[in-house]
Amino acid sequence: MATSPRAFVLRHTRLRPVPGLEELRLHLADEVLPLWHAVQIETGDAEAALPYWAFAWGGGLALGRYLREHPDAVEGRRVFDLGSGSGLVAIAAVRAGAAAATAADIDAFAAAAIELNARANGARISVVRRDVLDEEPPDVDLVLAGDCWYEGGLAARVTAWLRRARGRGIDALVGDPGRRYLPIDELRELAAYEVRTTTELEDLELKVGRVYTL
Ligand SMILES: C[S@@+](CC[C@H](N)C(=O)[O-])C[C@H]1O[C@@H](n2cnc3c(N)ncnc32)[C@H](O)[C@@H]1O
Repeated sequence: MATSPRAFVLRHTRLRPVPGLEELRLHLADEVLPLWHAVQIETGDAEAALPYWAFAWGGGLALGRYLREHPDAVEGRRVFDLGSGSGLVAIAAVRAGAAAATAADIDAFAAAAIELNARANGARISVVRRDVLDEEPPDVDLVLAGDCWYEGGLAARVTAWLRRARGRGIDALVGDPGRRYLPIDELRELAAYEVRTTTELEDLELKVGRVYTL
């Protein structure tokens, strides 16, 4: 990698308010394909992951709205944001009163983006940069998972891991804009929000993001 992930994130994004959660600001990009190409060049990896971290996804936007409306869901609790991307959900949880927040993502650029975004919002967040899905769920009160059901393999692993967490008495909140691999039969809907994303990522700019408990 020619530059640090932090410098790369800063070069390719702009700090701006989050649609529907204007009190939060994130380092976001406008276009996905040129940035993905830049990631491929930077990493020398033609198979590099999409720059998920440079966008606020429908599931995370819905969870963020839910936590703002229902701070009691996180107040005084230790939360774990799985597949954190930009850090949006972990930041929303801290702003809503979580006692401690950990954000997990496998992507080095996401880890850098989470740190930058946490600082921009005055939120203290621990970052875990590894695949935790083969590990036992952490010692927390609540797992938050925003938009993690977009790929069959990942979706199955996330669902199994959340079941294990529930089995250990850890609560789980899921945010999702209608992805096909969401295990809808295992979920109970708590709220629905119109969320504004971008046609760079979705078929429609306005989607319905739903929040569920497992
Ligand atoms: C669609 S993004 C959602 C980001 C954020 N939660 C939101 O809603 O804006 C999914 C994220 O999951 C991350 N991810 C994929 N596999 C993962 C794994 N095994 N463990 C942790 N994160 C993972 C990706 O790197 C990506 O940042």
